[in-house]
Amino acid sequence: MGRSFAKGRKSMAFEVAASNLLLLILLILLAHGSESRKMSEKYGNNLELPSNDDEIKDEMSQRVDPSLMIFFTLKDMKVGQKIPIYFPKREPSTSPHLLGRDEAASIPFSSKKLDNLLEFFSLSQGSPQAKAMENTLSLCEIEPIKGETKFCATSLESMLDFARSAFGLESSFGVVTTTFLNKSSATFQNYTILEMPKEILAPKMVACHTMPYPYAVYYCHYQESENKVYKISLGGENGDGVDAVAVCHMDTSHWSRDHASFRVLRIEPGTLPVCHFFPADHLVWVPTPTSS
Ligand SMILES: *[C@@H]1O[C@H](CO)[C@@H](O)[C@H](O)[C@H]1NC(C)=O
Ligand SMILES: *[C@@H]1O[C@H](CO)[C@@H](O)[C@H](O)[C@H]1NC(C)=O
Repeated sequence: MGRSFAKGRKSMAFEVAASNLLLLILLILLAHGSESRKMSEKYGNNLELPSNDDEIKDEMSQRVDPSLMIFFTLKDMKVGQKIPIYFPKREPSTSPHLLGRDEAASIPFSSKKLDNLLEFFSLSQGSPQAKAMENTLSLCEIEPIKGETKFCATSLESMLDFARSAFGLESSFGVVTTTFLNKSSATFQNYTILEMPKEILAPKMVACHTMPYPYAVYYCHYQESENKVYKISLGGENGDGVDAVAVCHMDTSHWSRDHASFRVLRIEPGTLPVCHFFPADHLVWVPTPTSS
């Protein structure tokens, strides 16, 4: 069963997903502080970069890959502020399929099984999709860093179990996501903050990032350090309306100096909280306030 649907659905969606790998790895590495340099060196060589090579960050010319344009600081969080932002725009119909727990459990999820998996999904060795799968499996298998708890969910049920374990059995929780009210095809454009951003008061948050894989895989994680979650209403210069979710990491003093956010924002580690927007298909789980 898994096989027939996976074969049918794999091609298009998976290509699209693989091209956003740089952004995904970037978001995941946000939490990884001084580890990030080592890890980006480890994975950097295998990355499928966006196709516009000339835009990719070049140390000498100070140009920045547009897909890194997701960062801002708390100082920018005011009505009327203009921020250039990159939002990958994937049609929901091309997103990889979310499996049920039983079906997910029937397919191995391990880099040791990569060869079998490539055969199972009819992907050739060395293809961009094969590399993306390998990267996803490696990122899922890395030990979390100190203060972080992580889990790769291959079904909705396992993602909910992870969120429940983060918030405690008695807590109820919900999901917030970036949503497009209407959208143009421009992935990178200037947006203006339309209303005062609303903080979603959450003592803890679990971020789940979609990973390139033939079916839906979410890299979910949370940290002990303080984060704040916001809903921000944005108007794009191309007519896009976005109800965006952003997270601010309040303490960046332990992050690597090489972290992309410091380059983009031109700030030093630990000087200002670093905030970033979430792409539309990533999920942020937060406890819902208990009514009393
Ligand atoms: C955003 O606006 C500035 C000028 O206000 C312009 O230089 C820049 O190219 C714009 N960025 C994008 C992505 O359109
Ligand atoms: C989005 O909606 C606004 C107002 O509803 C409209 O003016 C604008 O043209 C729309 N943009 C696109 C890209 O459809």
